[in-house]
Amino acid sequence: MAASMIGIIGGSGVYDLPGLEDAREERVSTAWGEPSDALRFGRIGGRDAVFLPRHGRGHRLSPSGIPYRANIAALKSVGVTDLVSVSACGSFRAEFYPGLFVLVDQFVDRTAGRASSFFGDGCVAHVSMAHPVAPLLVARIAAAAREEDIAFVKGGTYVCMEGPQFSSRAESLGYKAAGHDVIGMTAMPEAKLAREAEISYATIAMVTDFDCWHPEHDEVDVAAVVKVVRDNAGKAAALLARLIRDFPAEHEPCPARSDRALDGAIMTAPDA
Ligand code: ADE
Repeated sequence: MAASMIGIIGGSGVYDLPGLEDAREERVSTAWGEPSDALRFGRIGGRDAVFLPRHGRGHRLSPSGIPYRANIAALKSVGVTDLVSVSACGSFRAEFYPGLFVLVDQFVDRTAGRASSFFGDGCVAHVSMAHPVAPLLVARIAAAAREEDIAFVKGGTYVCMEGPQFSSRAESLGYKAAGHDVIGMTAMPEAKLAREAEISYATIAMVTDFDCWHPEHDEVDVAAVVKVVRDNAGKAAALLARLIRDFPAEHEPCPARSDRALDGAIMTAPDA
């Protein structure tokens, strides 16, 4: 079995990984351009980890402007086998309250015009996205949350909108009626690209608001999102630290085949 290496992508309000020892930064450039920021390497509990803030430190990049391909390519190039993203999200369920962590298991991609594949003319591949998150990775995140006594739910559908504007009330009610559980602006195409890169991927969706469907809650705004993320940053840091500390040194084969997604997925003939 191959050695494992855990990567963390931080979303809004998560621009650092507290507790990272012997931290060092490295600017990595890829065939797909520069990632959102320098990669930050270090150790927690003797286990190596690498961190990347998706929006860049200072939150400079909008969801549509994030270099998703460069981010995934950079993490792949430094050996990341398992990637956990932390993302603020709105909730479509009354019982998914601000501060709750949702370990989503499905995505709906409503983004438009983002470069969402490493493949294209010349080499065509169709990876499976039937099971877009890696079950073993989710199980480890759940175990870490339990150890740290952090409230979470396992399972849920994350709809990824283009943004940067929040949804209209009609859209919000439509997503809710469609059975989506949470909404954000960044998990796609990140999850697709991780799959193409054969990296096991999972999202910790941190509920920050009820979007704008809930009759008893204010509609989402940036101040509300920032406040909830700040209030829950300590929980996210504790969960990630525990996850990294307890992470197995060997990468276990993914039951959803996320780590070998290209097996049988390339349509182009090798000599074409
Ligand atoms: N991120 C946090 N809350 C959100 C919402 N309601 N819609 C889209 N992205 C979000």
